[in-house]
Amino acid sequence: MAHTSWLLVGAAAAMLLLLLAPTATAQDCLSATFSGGRTFGKCNSMPTLSATLHWTYHPENGTADIAFRAPSSSSGWVGWGLNPTGGLSMLHSNVFIASQSSGVASVLMTKLESTVSPSLQPETLSFGVPVGPTVEYSGGAYTIYATIKLPGNNTVQNTVWQAGPLSGGSIQQHPQAPANLASTQSLDFLSGTSIGPSNSRLHRKNIHGVLNAVAWGILIPTGAIIARYLRVFESADPAWFYLHIACQCSGYILGVAGWGLGLKLGSESVGITYQPHRNIGIAIFSLATLQVFALLLRPDTKNKYRFYWNIYHHSVGYSVIVLSAINIFKGLDILQPSSGYKTAYIVILATLGGIAVCLEAITWPIAIRKRKRDADKASNGTAGWQQGA
Ligand SMILES: *[C@@H]1O[C@H](CO)[C@@H](O)[C@H](O)[C@H]1NC(C)=O
Ligand SMILES: *[C@@H]1O[C@H](CO)[C@@H](O)[C@H](O)[C@H]1NC(C)=O
Repeated sequence: MAHTSWLLVGAAAAMLLLLLAPTATAQDCLSATFSGGRTFGKCNSMPTLSATLHWTYHPENGTADIAFRAPSSSSGWVGWGLNPTGGLSMLHSNVFIASQSSGVASVLMTKLESTVSPSLQPETLSFGVPVGPTVEYSGGAYTIYATIKLPGNNTVQNTVWQAGPLSGGSIQQHPQAPANLASTQSLDFLSGTSIGPSNSRLHRKNIHGVLNAVAWGILIPTGAIIARYLRVFESADPAWFYLHIACQCSGYILGVAGWGLGLKLGSESVGITYQPHRNIGIAIFSLATLQVFALLLRPDTKNKYRFYWNIYHHSVGYSVIVLSAINIFKGLDILQPSSGYKTAYIVILATLGGIAVCLEAITWPIAIRKRKRDADKASNGTAGWQQGA
């Protein structure tokens, strides 16, 4: 039992990691450092493409010194800009685009007057750029520096950013992935808050993700591990059963809340449907609901149908766990949060898997002894079906 409790402590630690991941990524933007001793007063971790914007706003002359940083391979480009007249979209944006050719990074200023094939010729922007721009590429990320005069001396601006591939040093169209299509927000250079409908939607997507990852990705598998391994220890009977029910019930309640939010987000998303993610989500909910009802129909341990009920209960339960892991990865691919989340989930999955393997090894001899004892009893005619729950 001592091993078991340590392993459960490990699982709890992994859980904490997942919950702390968002804080860690918010600090990423604060702890960033810049060449030439540059520092900036404010920063914003953008919701997509792991990009960050750092700036210092000078109200006296309505300018902002900015640094835009976004990860990219050396065969990619990144861009950032403002859209003074065209709203939260690419069309009419005034942008800085960083790229490189033969290891030399350069930055281009241009206006995007076509969403299909913008000319990408160097142009004067519609707002002043008193200093810069300059660019550097290091540590797998571009950083663009410039000082801009905020159009209309307005501190709230429509901002856009993007990342895409290069071919022979020339800028190619960016991917049409959800993260690339959602890379726009309204930003207040004075307060540092980013606003806009897309942002509250993203916030709800993150809640949906965290709820479902905790429910289906942690609580339900932990409950299954408890049922499979703890009940082997006679001293853990019937505690394992109540722990199992507690994990599965809280997992189911949180999971249904997360699932409902997911359906709502899906119904609001006009034009884009993540069909596989949605279908797997519905399958998980249906199977899990079946498990809840199965509990009510559970035959007594002595009933001859209990054997079949067990097979059914286990196969549906394991299917839910496998489908959940698949769907959490699908969800991470849709949301494309900073890489910390995916790593945290992989760590949790590996921890739960490791715990299961260890417990399998620890409980295997005990289970064999128990089965043998039960078989002896059965052959002596003193007991019938002795299948566990
Ligand atoms: C810009 O607006 C700020 C107040 O928001 C004001 O103090 C400043 O004088 C204005 N600057 C220019 C150049 O108009
Ligand atoms: C704007 O004002 C700040 C602070 O006074 C100053 O450091 C900066 O050089 C000014 N920028 C321009 C373009 O005048």
